[in-house]
Amino acid sequence: MILVTGSDGQVGYALLKTLAPLGAVKGLTRADGDLANAEEVAALLDKYQPRCIVNAAAYTAVDQAESHPDTAQALNAQLPAQLATWAKENGALLVHYSTDYVYDGSGDQPWQEDAPTGPLSVYGKTKLAGDEAVLAAGIGAIIFRTSWVYGARGRNFMLTMLKLASERDQLSVVSDQWGTPTPAWMIAEVTAIALREKLGNAKALAGVYHLTCRGETTWCDFSRAIISGAGDLGVPLNMSADQVSPIPTAEYPAPAPRPLNSRLSVTRVEQALGLELPDWRYALQLTLRDWVEFRNN
Ligand SMILES: NC(=O)c1ccc[n+]([C@@H]2O[C@H](COP(=O)([O-])OP(=O)(O)OC[C@H]3O[C@@H](n4cnc5c(N)ncnc54)[C@H](OP(=O)(O)O)[C@@H]3O)[C@@H](O)[C@H]2O)c1
Repeated sequence: MILVTGSDGQVGYALLKTLAPLGAVKGLTRADGDLANAEEVAALLDKYQPRCIVNAAAYTAVDQAESHPDTAQALNAQLPAQLATWAKENGALLVHYSTDYVYDGSGDQPWQEDAPTGPLSVYGKTKLAGDEAVLAAGIGAIIFRTSWVYGARGRNFMLTMLKLASERDQLSVVSDQWGTPTPAWMIAEVTAIALREKLGNAKALAGVYHLTCRGETTWCDFSRAIISGAGDLGVPLNMSADQVSPIPTAEYPAPAPRPLNSRLSVTRVEQALGLELPDWRYALQLTLRDWVEFRNN
């Protein structure tokens, strides 16, 4: 049994399909239990006795985390710690997800996995505490640090931009934060490849890997690419890509500070798994096509 936590979320939902060929998969949603409650988590683990746990549950509301640090800590730090302890005691594999927000966003070069961390926000600090607990368990867990996750379903930047572009005739979007948009399906596909490798050879693949598409952009240029890509697919919108204006982060104040440089080097995961990850623009085209299908049906 492969247990996927957060299976109503962007990555968790995509994992239900990509992990299916590897064996029986059980997805956990809120209806199964509150993962912020350690007793409920223990009962779920005892019930399902997974040989592998893929932890896609997290408290991902970055701004709300500033005013709800205890809930963020429970989901992002205590839950992975508990899963790692259970995996150690029961000989299970653990795959966990983390974030670009564990870095401080300085400089303009892609972060390597062994770079010093320096989270700026409650979300980033609690996610880092989760990574550290998983690594400290010494169970050969895999941690994928990803960034700018989006998809045809869920709460994400692509869907927000499509909605706004159908309602407004002008948008201002931050143009000084750099990173790499990464669809949930890409993360789920690579997770399945990694898990297949890991199930065959438990010692291979362990530790932290960055997992994003290739290339880099800003939120502003990402929003332009979304709007022009949707237009090319015949989606009726109220505005075109050139009606998106760039603004600095300083003009878009938010409760949680964001890293300006979220570029992540993916060389490590590509070499470990023999992959050549797709460019973010190609992945966006495919995701927009999924979304068009999704809304037409
Ligand atoms: N989203 C991003 O841009 C991004 C960027 C970098 C890294 N990551 C990391 O990638 C991973 C997957 O992110 P995602 O975008 O797929 O997240 P997501 O869509 O927010 O999904 C997280 C899931 O966890 C569930 N969850 C939260 N609190 C819970 C609780 N107390 N009990 C049970 N379930 C609970 C959520 O349920 P509800 O929907 O009911 O709340 C949701 O289904 C996370 O580790 C995240 O930190 C995400």
